[in-house]
Formats: sequence, C-alpha cells, structure tokens
Amino acid sequence: MTTPLNLIRTQPYTEWAPDVTPEVRADLRRQLEQGAVLYFPNLNFRFQPGEERFLDARWSDGKSKNINLRADDRAVRGAVGSEQDLADLYALIRRYADASETLIHTLFPEYVTHMTRAGTSLRPSEIAGRPVSWRKDDTRLHVDSFPSNPMLGKRLLRVFHNIDPAAPRVWRVGEPFADFAARFVPKTHGMWPGQAWLMKQLHITKRARSEYDHRMLQLHDLAKADLDYQKTVPQQEFHFPPGATWIVFSDQLLHAAMRGRAMMEQTIYLDPAAISDHTHSPEAVLARMLGKPMLAA
Ligand code: SIN
Ligand code: FE
Repeated sequence: MTTPLNLIRTQPYTEWAPDVTPEVRADLRRQLEQGAVLYFPNLNFRFQPGEERFLDARWSDGKSKNINLRADDRAVRGAVGSEQDLADLYALIRRYADASETLIHTLFPEYVTHMTRAGTSLRPSEIAGRPVSWRKDDTRLHVDSFPSNPMLGKRLLRVFHNIDPAAPRVWRVGEPFADFAARFVPKTHGMWPGQAWLMKQLHITKRARSEYDHRMLQLHDLAKADLDYQKTVPQQEFHFPPGATWIVFSDQLLHAAMRGRAMMEQTIYLDPAAISDHTHSPEAVLARMLGKPMLAA
C-alpha cells in the first residue's frame, strides 16, 4: 500500500512568456522550491514545417542516450544526418532552449542573475525496455546527480516538454526529499582525505567533487539499487500528455520516466543564492542531517 501523494501543480498558462502577477510568481516559486512539479498541460512547443521528421530515433547516432546541444555551442551532439538536417535540428533545439529560458525568466525574475543555461536535449527514443545498467536506468526513482560533473551546490532546474503527438510521457514521482534523505543518508559515507583531489587528477571528475556531490551520488545509487524501496515508497504515477510542459528541481524531486517516445528538456544551473526557501533544498537537508555545511572544500 502506498500513501496518496500529489506533487503535481497544474498551471493554466498557454504562452512561454505568460502574464503573471507578482503574487502568483511568488506562489509558483514557493511550490517549486518545496519540490513540486509545475505542470503546464497547455503550454505547447510547436514544430515548424518539416521539423516533425525529427520525431524518430533514426536521428540518434546510437551511441548517446540523447541528441543534445551545449549552451553556446552550434554543434548538435549525438545525432546523424546531412548538413541540412543537422542545421535544422540545431534550429529546433535552440528554439526550445530559448523558449524554456523565456519561461523561467518570466516566472522567476529573481533567478535571472543567478542562472546559467546548460544543455538542451531532444530524446526521440522510447524509454520503456531500453537495455541499460541499473545505475543508468531512469525508470527507477532517483534524484539527478552526475558522477563526473560535480555541481558544488548549484541546483538543477529542468524544463521538460512532451513533444510526441500521441503518446503520454509517463513518470513516477516519489516522497519529499527530506523523507528520502532520512532513509538513505545514514547509509552514505564521506570522502577520504585526498579523494576529491585524486578523482580530479585522474579525470574521473571535471572538478574537485564536494561532499555534497559525493553524498548526492550515493543517494542516487542507493535509491536505484533498492528494488523494495522502488516499490514501496510513497509515490504517484503521472501521465504528461502530448504538448505538456513541466518544470522541476530534478536534484530534489524523486522521479522516474517509465514510458514515452519523444521529449525535449532544458537544463539550467541555478546558484543556490537564488533560492528563497532553503528548508527543502538537498544541500540544506543534508547539512541538517549531517550537522555540518556540505559545501566546504
Ligand atoms: C530523467 O530525468 O530521469 C528522465 C526524464 C525523462 O526522460 O522523461
Ligand atoms: Fe533524472
């Protein structure tokens, strides 16, 4: 038996730069920072003529999970096609990056000076039944954390869009971060002296990992490895219909993607100074539980 949970907050907006009052903005920010999903069922991202052809796994190079674009780059990664196809793919993915950024700027003007555009991806392959190792299996509930890319406390804000015309994107979302942390933090350990330095020297990480990153990565792995937790944790399944957009802090919200054919996603790195309510942020929760700041060198 699982406890009913509702983390989905439905929003009426149909534009990427919606007209919202300061009161509404403050309320949206509070909900997002508490770990909810801001869900915009009618915020559609429209294809331009000819772009529908990219709704097909054949554009993927077969090596990378996604087709993606790094901020400030013009080269689409993970895709195969003619020069024209790749230029058209770039235009599509870039337009999504711009639309997502406009949405965040409009809803959260306080974030503007603290945010950095990171990668944008098009994920044109069915999720269900993909053969991946348990650690990479995003059909298991997890919080996002990357082995080689320490965030040093920067938050992961993501704007997702179901671009498939027919199939829903089916997610599970789970219990609040503090409950998740209460269960697994006692099973995590700190770094040994010199470990962060050594991992950077060996290029295992791009920069020295903080204890925050070290613990978050263990939380990611512990959740995915525990099949009993996956089944019994309070959770809800939600179907994001075609044309829906949703925003989450994916380092905070426990999530899993179960089914779906085509999605676009924008990642934004947010300086923790931008967060108005730190009570629920992963760094604050871990610092409280472990009785020390998580971001000291
Ligand atoms: C994830 O962030 O875990 C995957 C999201 C998705 O592919 O829908
Ligand atoms: Fe994820």
